[in-house]
Amino acid sequence: MANEKTADYGPLELLFGTWEGDKGEDFAPEPDEDATSLYYETITIERAGDVDNADEQVLAIARYHISVRRKKNDETFHDQVGYWLWDKANQTIINSFTIPRGLCVLAGGSLDIEKENDEQVTFNVTAKLGEEWGLTQSPFMNEKAKTLEFTQKLTVTKDTLSYSQTTVLDIYGRNFDHTDFNTLKRV
Ligand code: HEM
Repeated sequence: MANEKTADYGPLELLFGTWEGDKGEDFAPEPDEDATSLYYETITIERAGDVDNADEQVLAIARYHISVRRKKNDETFHDQVGYWLWDKANQTIINSFTIPRGLCVLAGGSLDIEKENDEQVTFNVTAKLGEEWGLTQSPFMNEKAKTLEFTQKLTVTKDTLSYSQTTVLDIYGRNFDHTDFNTLKRV
């Protein structure tokens, strides 16, 4: 890895910085009654240079950390570390991340770029169990709380970052759409 300062970050450039938002809404599975929780969140995204793969593919790297707390009690109830990766030659975007439940996701996709008024970029990525853009999880999660699919749409402008995402779970004997959305401001 190299070139932290000089890498061509392309659409990742809009992501860098610290973002905060308190309009988050999570819908998560429970054994009896599924629960909606309101949350606030901090996302930090840093330049991490670029990397060459097999002397052919160049990926620009944005390293991130997400911290999510429940409004009701200020407790952390979701934590996530990962990388957004940009493959300029193939116009491909990757969200590669892990959450501390024993689960890693490699979601890939494409971008929508609007440059007319303020520049706005939308990152669309998906991952499905058993596919190339996929995921892997611990034996426990495979048996008890299996993730089948992850879809995310994240839109960023100079000052605002918003996302909505759906994680399809096989849990408590049924399939469940675990959803999250929030809007954050640059601080
Ligand atoms: C803002 C983002 C997120 C929040 C606030 C959140 C919150 C939650 C909550 C409250 C539960 C129920 C936990 C419990 O029963 O103790 C849960 C379950 C789960 N979440 Fe998330 N989640 C988020 C994103 C994700 C993402 C991105 C993934 C994976 C791609 C994920 C995977 C899971 C899994 C596998 C479970 C089932 C575990 C269980 O309930 O026992 N979550 N999440």
